[in-house]
Amino acid sequence: MPKIFCGCLAVSVSEGYIQECEIITLGIERRHIMKLQIRIELILLAIFLAGWLSVVGTTYVMEQQQGVENTVNKAEVLMSAAIAARTYTSDEIADPLSEVETQEFLPQRVPSYAAQQLFARLDDEFSGYTYAERVLNPTNPKDLAEGWQVELIQAFIDDPDREAIVETRADKSGRQTLYVAQPIAVNAPSCLECHSTPEVAPASLIRTYGSSGGFGWQLDEIIGTRIVSVPIALAHRQVRESIVSYSLLIASIFLMAYTAVNLLVRRWIIKPLDSIAHLVEQISLRKLDSSPLPEDRSDELGKLSKSINRLLASLQRSLSSSLK
Ligand code: HEC
Repeated sequence: MPKIFCGCLAVSVSEGYIQECEIITLGIERRHIMKLQIRIELILLAIFLAGWLSVVGTTYVMEQQQGVENTVNKAEVLMSAAIAARTYTSDEIADPLSEVETQEFLPQRVPSYAAQQLFARLDDEFSGYTYAERVLNPTNPKDLAEGWQVELIQAFIDDPDREAIVETRADKSGRQTLYVAQPIAVNAPSCLECHSTPEVAPASLIRTYGSSGGFGWQLDEIIGTRIVSVPIALAHRQVRESIVSYSLLIASIFLMAYTAVNLLVRRWIIKPLDSIAHLVEQISLRKLDSSPLPEDRSDELGKLSKSINRLLASLQRSLSSSLK
């Protein structure tokens, strides 16, 4: 417990020095002031550290949610672009190309082909995003829905108003992946030119794909799902990158605040206390020729300085009257 020397009960003075002085000890010793400074610095550091950790922690959790939402948004934008590419092919490309007679079927006529080609040409910003169309009865066997994809399609068939399903699951290599799925419906009579019966479909299509799959579809029937997938690590990596720069920014703000508060505490509390302790120490050593403390403050430390000045003055007075 630090001590402050606050008053003198009985003084006996001879030859300019106080011989007896029973000083009431209530507070400050100088060595305790340094300790007080360290204590205040440590408490401030702990407060700022706790503040920094809680701000960074909360932001990390929020950013992660935000990161997933952003990824879903991007996936939905890409999905819209894929649908637009499909529609463009149906409306603008399919007819003129159907006039061109070739042995081989021209895949450029196929709406699904346009969507897949669009994804294959995305730039780096979307690297990691993949697009797939999965169908219960596909033209191209690689598009056959399996396991959980069949369940997705079934969910869309059971609830035709459902526009999208977003879920996270492990992909084949065990990576957690975010999937945004939408239903594919046979939404135009033109689809039936190639997907109704093998007899109606272009001969070149049958030559290339055979007649076993992708037929018997009905207008407005939900036949599959289009899925945009992206590894969840990609969403989290972006969050990590932004959280590192954010936490550095917050740390530098906290560091500035910590330094400023420390300087103020040192200037407003520690330094005045140090001068007070020094003077009280001088008094306790019976050296009464010290100069009084500044009295320019109206707060508690100002009051304390004034009291100690009064004590010094009264001791000086008793000393000089006893010397006379
Ligand atoms: C000119 C013929 C043609 C037309 C018209 C056409 N498709 Fe296809 N479609 C194909 C071919 C061929 C494939 C296989 C493409 C491939 O190799 O991936 C295919 C693939 C698909 C796939 C991917 C699954 C699968 O079967 O391999 C979907 C889904 C699909 N088409 C839906 C539609 C819809 C919906 C329409 C109407 C908007 C449509 N198609 C119009 C020929 C056509």
